[in-house]
Amino acid sequence: MTNNKETAPDGPMIVLRDLHKQFGSLEVLKGIDLEIANSEVLVLIGPSGSGKSTLLRCLNHLEAPTSGEIYVDGVRVNRTDLSRRAFQRHLNEIRTHMGMVFQHFNLFPHKTVLENLIEAPTQVLGLERAEAEREALELLKRVGLTDKRDVYPANLSGGQQQRVAIARA
Ligand SMILES: Nc1ncnc2c1ncn2[C@@H]1O[C@H](COP(=O)(O)OP(=O)(O)O)[C@@H](O)[C@H]1O
Ligand SMILES: [Mg+2]
Repeated sequence: MTNNKETAPDGPMIVLRDLHKQFGSLEVLKGIDLEIANSEVLVLIGPSGSGKSTLLRCLNHLEAPTSGEIYVDGVRVNRTDLSRRAFQRHLNEIRTHMGMVFQHFNLFPHKTVLENLIEAPTQVLGLERAEAEREALELLKRVGLTDKRDVYPANLSGGQQQRVAIARA
């Protein structure tokens, strides 16, 4: 079944139907069916190179799946009924609601911890700087990094960088 309709409002947070992804002749995802409920914590385990990151990247279309359907919070991510520009707007909208913590944390190296946290809320969501800072400091408190607010990522340990990335996401 292929459609662009939304899943039921009380449905799972993430739904994958028959998701396929190939890189050339390399078939990485071979028909993944998966439902993940709101607040459910799911761990993907598999050998290096088995397609874990590819699956995650497909969720917000950092990789375009070869076929199949992806729904996040009831919204079809890989819609096929939109023009190129409308599809890009659709993706941008979805991505403002989805955070991802990368294996390599991809913190902005030339920005302090606090600046890393307020970048997207001010630039993408249009929050006032003061409001973004207030939220960022609250998040830093939750990950135990209040004292590192004005430090650059290079001067943090790997674990601290990861916690900043989690707070940013
Ligand atoms: N952009 C790409 N182009 C070609 N092959 C890729 C690309 N990204 C990943 N792959 C290949 O797809 C397979 C799955 O990779 P990946 O999803 O990163 O694995 P995992 O995260 O499980 O270690 C690997 O064989 C990898 O080499
Ligand atoms: Mg990986």
